[in-house]
Amino acid sequence: MAKNKTISIKDEEVFLADEEFIVSKTDLRGNILYANRTFMSIASYSEGELLRQPHSIMRHPDMPKGVFKLLWQTIKKGNEFFGFVKNLCSDGRYYWVFANVTPAFDQHNVLVGYLSVRRKPPATAIKIIEPIYQHMLKIEQSASSNKTAEQESIKYLQEQLDSLNVEYQSFAINLFNEKT
Ligand SMILES: Cc1cc2nc3c(=O)[nH]c(=O)nc-3n(C[C@H](O)[C@H](O)[C@H](O)COP(=O)(O)O)c2cc1C
Repeated sequence: MAKNKTISIKDEEVFLADEEFIVSKTDLRGNILYANRTFMSIASYSEGELLRQPHSIMRHPDMPKGVFKLLWQTIKKGNEFFGFVKNLCSDGRYYWVFANVTPAFDQHNVLVGYLSVRRKPPATAIKIIEPIYQHMLKIEQSASSNKTAEQESIKYLQEQLDSLNVEYQSFAINLFNEKT
């Protein structure tokens, strides 16, 4: 099964086409219930390898924990999240996405899961976000515990955003829209 496989990281990027969308649906814990064909083909997984697996199977070690903390804080409250994510393919390559994660409610307005749609991010946005994530990761690696790691890296991200007078969500959306 995919979850037991040890993946050796490769410095080789896979790109989404402009018109492609990666779509997935999860339960409340982030276990994958649906993945579209683009998802399977970009990440090099079969449907059987993805379904019922936690979304963290494509977590890239270059991604700071703080970003996922922000993601979960936002969606658990029933709000939508926008952000840039570097993901791992099953063969060790990577792909960047601009992700939108939205909560899914049933007919009684009870939160039942999440839906994510990801698009190709502009290269200009990745040039800006990558060094910020690298710095967050360094902070996390030198922190004394997982909890302080997330708090300190989010604090650093917050300081960067405060200097620009913007929230992470608007920052991410603006970067996505500033295509050159
Ligand atoms: C709808 C949805 C989509 C997600 N998509 C991704 C993703 O593409 N890549 C990723 O690393 N984590 C994604 N996550 C977050 C993971 O659930 C997880 O929090 C993250 O990979 C960090 O792993 P960890 O919580 O085990 O540290 C998604 C979560 C949800 C609810």
